Amino acid sequence: MKIGIIIHSYTGNTLSVAQKLKEKLTASGHIVNLEQVTAVNGDPKEARNVVLKDIPDTKTYDVLIFGAPVWAFSLSPIMKLYLSQVPSLQGKKIGCFVTQQLRFKLLGGNNAINKMKKACQSKGGSVYETGIVNWSHKQREAMIEEVVDRFGRV
Ligand SMILES: Cc1cc2nc3c(=O)[nH]c(=O)nc-3n(C[C@H](O)[C@H](O)[C@H](O)COP(=O)(O)O)c2cc1C
Repeated sequence: MKIGIIIHSYTGNTLSVAQKLKEKLTASGHIVNLEQVTAVNGDPKEARNVVLKDIPDTKTYDVLIFGAPVWAFSLSPIMKLYLSQVPSLQGKKIGCFVTQQLRFKLLGGNNAINKMKKACQSKGGSVYETGIVNWSHKQREAMIEEVVDRFGRV
């Protein structure tokens, strides 16, 4: 299958998870592209006035995996804006994951995932997996492995 991993990553955590996922899916024989959503000014201080710069195209992919950081107990505004303007996701399988600094999913992770799920479902996409990596968790590496493993069974 042709799989697009489309992420927003400001400090590289989400990107590092996405790279592992790409390796896993590629090793399983899929064609995988990793693309980044960026903003004209990606500084979190400008989060209220986001203008997107790199806007990856979703059309050619059978499966899409979206990844982003949690910002202010919610989904990063850059991914939020990107998903709001993405065209129809009808017929596509979707995975959504977030990374967050805090150890508890209740502190933004769940909220961010719900926002991603709703945005994708509102465009007709079918969400097959969701995942949260808590960056300061002692078991972080195991959490990453678990997410990569689950998402890899596409
Ligand atoms: C502006 C901003 C707000 C953040 N807010 C939260 C938050 O509410 N909860 C949390 O757990 N982490 C928060 N973080 C930490 C990031 O979610 C975390 O470091 C994430 O893994 C960063 O991903 P990235 O390296 O791909 O950008 C915030 C980071 C930034 C820059």
